[in-house]
Amino acid sequence: MPAAAETPWEKAYREFETPEQEIRKFMRRLDSAGAASWPRDARIVELFCGRGNGLRALERFGFTRLEGVDLSETLLAQYTGSARLYVGDCRELQFPDASRDLAIVQGGLHHLPTLPDDLERTLAEILRVVRPGGRVMFVEPWSTPFLTAVHALCRMGVVRRLWARLDNLATMIEHERETYEAWLARPGEILALLDECFERERVSIGLGKINFVGRPRS
Ligand SMILES: C[S@@+](CC[C@H](N)C(=O)[O-])C[C@H]1O[C@@H](n2cnc3c(N)ncnc32)[C@H](O)[C@@H]1O
Repeated sequence: MPAAAETPWEKAYREFETPEQEIRKFMRRLDSAGAASWPRDARIVELFCGRGNGLRALERFGFTRLEGVDLSETLLAQYTGSARLYVGDCRELQFPDASRDLAIVQGGLHHLPTLPDDLERTLAEILRVVRPGGRVMFVEPWSTPFLTAVHALCRMGVVRRLWARLDNLATMIEHERETYEAWLARPGEILALLDECFERERVSIGLGKINFVGRPRS
């Protein structure tokens, strides 16, 4: 079967950062999340893993039991590493209960079409699959003054023409606008849902992102 054609969003995502830049960004995030102290044989699943550079960052950290799930076959096909990949919908995971030690989502939850229902479904699936005492890590866009400034720049055609990286970011936002804006508009509700499911271990908000590391509540 021929590979599915790349969508405009996928093209902008591919051109936004080189794989190496993206892997280094993910390594910095893992470092801030405390990954240096996580067992190297932890069973880790990266949900909404896209082209898998988050998995490659985990490999560089020395983690060995890695899996990724994403809806896009095109993006998964770009991954070249040792993790096992699954095409699938993260609202309905195909893993047994309590079968993974850690679930990671980076920039995936804000793609869910219906809030809060799809978020509740996805978090319930993560709670089901991650064992008691396991861990979760979420990194998602968050409304901060920095993000407001970035959005203002994205509306300036001249700046976009001169700054390819910003243009790619603006293109991605245009193609995900509905879910992205719905996500950014409900910080209180989203944080309450995360807190309902997970006990906070490390949480920080800044530079247009929330970084949430927590443990499943029983
Ligand atoms: C912004 S990308 C993030 C990819 C990767 N985590 C990263 O940071 O590079 C969002 C990803 O979510 C995937 N996606 C969207 N809805 C999904 C769903 N319901 N289940 C699984 N993957 C989904 C898309 O295919 C896309 O790869």
